[in-house]
Amino acid sequence: IDIKNLRGATGGFITLDPGYKNTGSCESAITFLDGEKGILRYCGYSIEELAEKADFLEVAFLLIFGELPTKEELDKFHEDIKKNSIVDEDVKKILDAFPKAAHPMGVLSSLTSALTAFNPTSVNVDSEEEMYNSVVRILGKFPVLVAWTMRKKSGLPLDYGDKNLGYVENILKMMFKSPNEEYSQNPILVNALDKLLILHADHEQNCSTSTVRIVGSSHAGLFASLSAGISALWGPLHGGANQAVLEMLEAIKEDGGDTKKYMAKAKDKSDPFRLMGFGHRVYKNFDPRARIIKVAADEVLGDLGIEDPILDIAKSLEQEALNDEYFVKRKLYPNVDFYSGIIYRGMGIPTDMFTVMFALGRLPGWISQWREMRLRKEPIGRPRQLYIGERERKFVPINKR
Ligand code: ACO
Repeated sequence: IDIKNLRGATGGFITLDPGYKNTGSCESAITFLDGEKGILRYCGYSIEELAEKADFLEVAFLLIFGELPTKEELDKFHEDIKKNSIVDEDVKKILDAFPKAAHPMGVLSSLTSALTAFNPTSVNVDSEEEMYNSVVRILGKFPVLVAWTMRKKSGLPLDYGDKNLGYVENILKMMFKSPNEEYSQNPILVNALDKLLILHADHEQNCSTSTVRIVGSSHAGLFASLSAGISALWGPLHGGANQAVLEMLEAIKEDGGDTKKYMAKAKDKSDPFRLMGFGHRVYKNFDPRARIIKVAADEVLGDLGIEDPILDIAKSLEQEALNDEYFVKRKLYPNVDFYSGIIYRGMGIPTDMFTVMFALGRLPGWISQWREMRLRKEPIGRPRQLYIGERERKFVPINKR
C-alpha cells in the first residue's frame, strides 16, 4: 500500500474499519450497551425494569428528553401527540397508488418521506420549540401510517383511531378494528405490544440509527432522516431478521421439523444459509431483550390459548445452538428478533408487517439520536476511504480502445 494513500485531509492517518466494527461515530448519553455482559440500559435505567414497570410512551419521553416524565409532563406529551395525529388526506392517495403486494417497509419509508411535503415547516429545527413540534408530529402520524399500511394489505378501510385511548391501545385499534363491529381492547395484546415496543425502542449506533444520524447530519429534515432509517432497518441482517426468522421456522416445520439439518446448513461455509435471529455485532452473550421476549412469548401464547408448534422448533434450535461448538465458539446467541415474530404472529399481525412493528418501536430511539446529534451540533458525517484503484491514466479515444 502506498503510504501517501493512508493520509487524510488533516494529514493524520485514516483508520480502515469496514463495517465500523471498532469505530465510535459519536458521543451519546442515550443508550448503554455492554455486549460482553449482556447489559442494556436506556438513560441509565435497565431494560428489564423498564419493560416491567414503564409504558412505551414513558420510555419514548425518557429516550428523547433524558428523564422519566412526571404525570403532568406525560399527559401534555400525549395530548400534543394526539393533536398532531391527523394525516393529510392526500397521503391516502399515495398509499392507494401502491400495489397491494408492495412490501410494507417500502410503503412506510415512502409515506414517511412524503410527510415532509405535507409538513414543510418540520424541516426547520433551529429552535427547541420547532424541534419539539417535529417530534410530536411524527409520533402522532407514524402509527397512523403503520396501521394504514397494514389495513391496505388486509383490504380493510382505513381507521382514524380514538383520541380517548392510550397510545398503544390506539395503535391496536387502528390496526385491527373491523368496520362493522364494536372494538374492545384485549389487555393481553396491549401489554404484549407495549413490552415489545419498549424492547425495540433504542439500541445505540446500529445500522438504521447510524443512518438516521448521518442523513440528519446534512441537516435533511427529521422525516427524511427517518425514512432513510426505515430503509436501513428493512434488510434481513438488521430488522428484517424478524420476518426472516419466522419464514425460516415455517420452512423447518414444513420440512418435517428436523432442526439438526438446519443447524448443519448454518455451519456449512459453502451454504449461504445462516440461522436467522442468531448472532449480534455487539452482544457476545445472551441478548437481554431476547431473554425477556422468550418469557413473554410463552406468556402471551398461553394467555391467548394458542399452541404454536413454531415456538417448540425455536426452543429446540436455541437449545442445540447453546450446546454446539460452532455457535459457542463464535458466541452466537439468539437476538431480539428470534422470538419477537412468534408473539407478533400470536397477536394476528401478518409476517411481512413484523419489521414495520420493529420500526414503530425504534421510532423514539431514532428521534432521540437525531435530536442529540442536532443539539450537539455534530459535523456532517463523511467517512474517508483507502483508494485502491488505478493511479493515473491517459484518456484513450473510443475508436482506439
Ligand atoms: N448463523 C451461522 N453463522 C453465523 C451467524 C448465523 N446467524 N451469524 C454469524 N455467523 C458466523 C459467521 O459466518 C462468522 O463465521 P467465521 O468467523 O467462521 O467466518 C462469524 O459467525 C462472525 O460473523 P460476522 O458475520 O462476521 O458477524 P457480524 O458482527 O458482521 O454480523 C450479524 C452480525 C449480521 C447479526 C450476523 O450474526 C447475522 O447475519 N445474523 C443473522 C441475521 C440476524 O439475526 N440479524 C439481526 C441482528 S439483531 C438486529 O439487527 C436487531
